[in-house]
Amino acid sequence: MTHPIHPLLVHFPVATWSLATIGDIASLFLGEQVGWVAGVLLVIGIITALFAMLAGLIELAKIDQQSIAMQVANQHMVLAMISWSFYTISLFLRLEGTTLTQPNIFAIVLSITGLLFLWAAGWKGGKLVYEYGIGVQQADK
Ligand code: HEM
Repeated sequence: MTHPIHPLLVHFPVATWSLATIGDIASLFLGEQVGWVAGVLLVIGIITALFAMLAGLIELAKIDQQSIAMQVANQHMVLAMISWSFYTISLFLRLEGTTLTQPNIFAIVLSITGLLFLWAAGWKGGKLVYEYGIGVQQADK
């Protein structure tokens, strides 16, 4: 494979978590059904993020240990893991057994915090690719 699989996989958690947080906030005005959809999106994001993390670790192993890019990669990884943790706690707060319930205000605040960390992680991920050229390879033209 000429390029990493990580950028392909990250779209799933980025999209579902972003929509989940929007859904969480909207559920305050629109009610339980929207909250339920947000919960389903959270679950999808939490699972797909694990695959993205696995692919990310494969790319991480290819970066020079002593480089500045490695520092940025570690920051990116930690931010992504913190985001995952906030979203996971937010999910558990709205579970009654295996049933998704309307998120309470604390679950919604955690969801918003997860999104802030996701943005920070995405920013660092972009830095890795567009500033340090990680995972980028010139193809023959
Ligand atoms: C163990 C956790 C992770 C590690 C070690 C990791 C590592 C990396 C590395 C090395 C890159 C640059 C090379 C590449 O694109 O493959 C990158 C880019 C990126 N990562 Fe991660 N990552 C992790 C988790 C995540 C998660 C969970 C997300 C999103 C939910 C994410 C979002 C991104 C984004 C948006 C980019 C920029 C991709 C682009 O613009 O092409 N990463 N990551």
